[in-house]
Amino acid sequence: MNAAIRSVVLAAHSYDIEVIGFYHGYNGLINDDGRPLTPLDVHGIIHKGGTILKSARCPEMLTSVGVNQVAGTLLKNKIDALVVIGGDGSFKGLIEVEKVWGGKTIGLPGTIDNDLDCTDYTIGFSTAINTGIDAIDKIRDTADAFDRIFIVELMGRHSGQIAFNVGIASAAEQVLSFENFDSNDVNNEISKIANDILCVKQKYDGSYIIVMAENLIDGGAFNLASLLKAKVNIDCTACVLGHIQRGGTPVAKDRLLATKLGVSAIQGLTEGRTSVMVGELNNAVNFSALDEVIKQNKKVSPRIVNAQKNIFALTN
Ligand code: F6P
Repeated sequence: MNAAIRSVVLAAHSYDIEVIGFYHGYNGLINDDGRPLTPLDVHGIIHKGGTILKSARCPEMLTSVGVNQVAGTLLKNKIDALVVIGGDGSFKGLIEVEKVWGGKTIGLPGTIDNDLDCTDYTIGFSTAINTGIDAIDKIRDTADAFDRIFIVELMGRHSGQIAFNVGIASAAEQVLSFENFDSNDVNNEISKIANDILCVKQKYDGSYIIVMAENLIDGGAFNLASLLKAKVNIDCTACVLGHIQRGGTPVAKDRLLATKLGVSAIQGLTEGRTSVMVGELNNAVNFSALDEVIKQNKKVSPRIVNAQKNIFALTN
């Protein structure tokens, strides 16, 4: 987030465009809580996690009252263009704001979930998956030493992007996610998991790590561990990584993506673009209509799902 804010401010400055940063997401726009941001204000922030502008959920944006208040603040401050860094919820709000306001709007994809269409990656995803990999590498030490089975639950809301990418890169024995797990038939899934564990353990009684996407079953990793114990007498240790994945020093890939997208956003606005998200597809800048972006969440590529399946087949 900070790398993106910095880039927007510096790029705007190079075009002599003034920037006002609003605090706490849309709440800052509802309450007219903002301040000018100069290049000096964004000095020394690229390496910091979080956001100097703070962030917040904003339920008011689901109402026309909230949307009108945002438009009122934008008009009052004589703002020409609004740049929003966020996910699909933020973009839905942005579409509504543009309808009643009339200024230019542009979105930057900012979410660890990498679930936004029309961009290969979202800002924050690479840092989150590196954090996940790092955590599992550490968990692996205990799992190896004690020949234990772990279930590690990762964030992602309703997307398996984090689970699959972390699972593959940390050599997890299994990845359980929306793409390969039937939440309506948990009993059958438990039997399959048990079967796979036993197959591997017969050959080699070492560590076994299951990466699991959050929101896959009620009660998440802890419930899955209880079910495996109760139904098939398999002991697992559950670990929920949680908000650790949302913070920390951003990795190079995120800093670069955020910087490139911030610059492209300002360039896009100066070219007259509006109601679009600026993303990156196949290494090239890509502007897509916000309506298109929010139509559906990006699916995990079948290539990634298959890679996990094939790698597991080799070890099984
Ligand atoms: O969308 C980002 C995300 O971190 C999801 O992965 C997660 O489900 C959610 O936000 C957590 O939100 P909160 O911090 O409000 O509980």
